[in-house]
Amino acid sequence: MEQSREFTWRGPGGPFTIQLRQGVFAPTHTSREVAAGLTVNPGETVIDVGCGSGVLSFVAARLGAARVYGTEVNADAVDLARNNAELLGLAERVDVRLGSLFEPLEGVRADVVIGDVSGIPDEIASLSDWFPGGFSGGPTGAEVPVAMLERARSHLLPGGRLYLPTGSIQDEGAVLRAARRIFGEGRMRQLRERLLPLPGRIADSAVARRLMETGVVRFIRKGSRTLWELRIWELTAPPVLQPPS
Ligand SMILES: C[S@@+](CC[C@H](N)C(=O)[O-])C[C@H]1O[C@@H](n2cnc3c(N)ncnc32)[C@H](O)[C@@H]1O
Repeated sequence: MEQSREFTWRGPGGPFTIQLRQGVFAPTHTSREVAAGLTVNPGETVIDVGCGSGVLSFVAARLGAARVYGTEVNADAVDLARNNAELLGLAERVDVRLGSLFEPLEGVRADVVIGDVSGIPDEIASLSDWFPGGFSGGPTGAEVPVAMLERARSHLLPGGRLYLPTGSIQDEGAVLRAARRIFGEGRMRQLRERLLPLPGRIADSAVARRLMETGVVRFIRKGSRTLWELRIWELTAPPVLQPPS
């Protein structure tokens, strides 16, 4: 029997209450920071890649998006997000599809892409309870976000915006290099920055030590606490349609 619980979102677009379920990613500080940086204008089309419970799709819909497409590789998350859309009376506007990244969205172009797809190294994710479905970000946590960035340009309308979380808990340099290559330095704007605590079982692990020593992640010690830096970016597509390079 699946265990589910209610969760009330009090960030932008809230408050609203959804169901969470074991096996599906539960909203975190990163979800809240992405939402805090997000601009959605009334009538816009939004793609939410890695939508989990659907929380950021619902934020976008409640901020006025005319149409929101969520994608997910976790079939339990797709089922949950669809149920949540029904619960919130948003099923007409929020369309959740099973598949990797933009795969289920052939031919769809949006004003906004929410790129909060998994970006935590697999070995760190396995020490946490953040990815109960097991769909984490790849060996360095950069692989899935970079693959998302590679495909995003062809799903953005001219002048469209992509919202991207990065952090020192992943190979952030690799994600930012890909973002600069694909969008151009002048089309990236850092919107937010925050220090977040790293749970002790991760901070004290051999995995964290090895990833620090090899320069993949960067943690900050402050007294007895270990912290990581989260950043939220807005990347803007060129105002005229160009084939992605
Ligand atoms: C960091 S969670 C964010 C979920 C949601 N945006 C939130 O704030 O709660 C990332 C989500 O991406 C999903 N995911 C991982 N790889 C994916 C892929 N290749 N395509 C689509 N979704 C993916 C995971 O299953 C997970 O639900």
